[in-house]
Amino acid sequence: MHDLIEALEQKRASARIGGGQTRIDSQHAKGKLTARERIEVLLDEGSFEEYDMFVEHRCADFGMEEQKIPGDGVVTGHGTINGRLVYVFSKDFTVFGGSLSRAHAEKIVKVQQMAVKNGAPVIGIFDAGGARIQEGVDSLAGYADIFMENVLSSGVIPQISVIMGPCAGGDVYSPALTDFIFMVKDTSYMYVTGPDVVKTVTNEEVTHETLGGASVHAKKSGVVDGAFENDIEALTQIRRLIDYLPASNREKPPVRPVHDTFDRQEMSLDTLVPPNPNTPYDMKELITKVVDEGDFFEVSPQFGGNIICGFGRIEGSTVGVVANQPMTLAGVLDIDASRKAARFVRFCDCFNIPVVTFVDVPGFMPGTKQEYGGLIKHGAKLLFAYAEATVPKVTVITRKAYGGAYDVMSSKHLRGDVNYAWPTAEIAVMGAKGAVEIIFRKEAGDPEKLAARTKEYETNFANPYVAAKRGYIDDIIMPHNTRKRVATALRTLKNKSLTNPWKKHDNIPL
Ligand code: HXC
Repeated sequence: MHDLIEALEQKRASARIGGGQTRIDSQHAKGKLTARERIEVLLDEGSFEEYDMFVEHRCADFGMEEQKIPGDGVVTGHGTINGRLVYVFSKDFTVFGGSLSRAHAEKIVKVQQMAVKNGAPVIGIFDAGGARIQEGVDSLAGYADIFMENVLSSGVIPQISVIMGPCAGGDVYSPALTDFIFMVKDTSYMYVTGPDVVKTVTNEEVTHETLGGASVHAKKSGVVDGAFENDIEALTQIRRLIDYLPASNREKPPVRPVHDTFDRQEMSLDTLVPPNPNTPYDMKELITKVVDEGDFFEVSPQFGGNIICGFGRIEGSTVGVVANQPMTLAGVLDIDASRKAARFVRFCDCFNIPVVTFVDVPGFMPGTKQEYGGLIKHGAKLLFAYAEATVPKVTVITRKAYGGAYDVMSSKHLRGDVNYAWPTAEIAVMGAKGAVEIIFRKEAGDPEKLAARTKEYETNFANPYVAAKRGYIDDIIMPHNTRKRVATALRTLKNKSLTNPWKKHDNIPL
């Protein structure tokens, strides 16, 4: 018996060493943790239980039958994050560059299926060179199996991808199908085809970083939802994110003990909106003053900065916050902001997370760049997302709510449940200056008359009372009481029941 136990220990030790100490050292020298070290940081201490440690590839081409490493380049299993079950797979770059064989894919599919069956999130850690070239089409089949599971799991369990090294070719599409992607700065890059292929096909000269580094995807493409300084920071932040999320669509968001009183007043909010309607202010100040203990997990902070999306808690329960940011492009809705917020609202709706929306929006971004880029369709995504969402929706208009953007931003007309405005709100078809220039075009040569018209428009329309008279907003609230009013609204919506008409699925303007 003793021998058998020793043999098992030896086999385990050999699996744990992956591609060997030299490759582990090289991983460390690049500033990266190994697949197993990452799991240790991500999960609660001692909670990881591994599956398929002894799985080997079945490839017999190119001398591969002589090169078998138990585990075959991916570490899979489950564990807990602050006591809650999660499934995890972590690519091991020290084993054939983390490349994907059929057997490697089967391991990932196994945890994906278990996660759906048991209603728990899947976290995938990527550090790999794509398809196992020696396996050819078997590798492609393996990728497709993973994609299929990603799609079937979408909206059922949260799926999170963390890119911590190369992520190229077939490896990019699984993360792209998941709910959130995060990257590590400097050590990770993500692209469909690498710099060499780019050079051959388009003659462009690019580096890994300029083609698919964290700064590219977190700022320009919007493919990823956040970029972190190093492996440890990324994994710690994923733990934080998981704390906000329900484990599956069968659950309500987790409720955490809270020491913040629900009716905490914030007198400073009474002066947050500056007297000049064109002066920006930081919407994040409002968010952090409303959510529990100022704790806010922002998603995609560097992309589409004119809209803020993220998770906070009110009375211990998770809420998704969407807010126009007057500090960036005056909070206008453009393509990036619309796409970003639409996806976020849909995530919240999938997972029973109420959406709190703070509105200060001057409209949609004008211009050929936006129109040629399809602003109509992208703006419609956000409209669609809010309209179809059946989770509790609480809206507070702090200042501008102009035109179509007023409709889009969780208005009453899109089934907003409780819609408030601050006394500083201006709910109108457009700003006073633009409105007057159109309806009094004939008086354009008379600046005095025009100024009087503008004043008249401001008095009559640049306020919340016209909308309030019609019931389009439910109340005009004191800014300092915003937390209390939002919290109370959410209390009343705890048992909200609303379903959309039966359909196979909708046809959101993609
Ligand atoms: C098999 C691979 C591999 C792969 C790397 N390795 N990629 N083995 N299949 N795809 C092995 C290397 O042979 C090497 O083995 C070890 O991993 C480390 O690789 P290095 O090249 O030494 O590391 P580095 O210099 O850091 O470069 C990393 C890399 C590079 C940029 C990822 O390895 C690379 O370009 N790999 C190929 C990427 C690629 O073209 N993949 C196929 C994409 S096509 P030793 O034994 O020396 O340690 C694809 C299609 C799928 O994925 C589509 C499905 C939809």
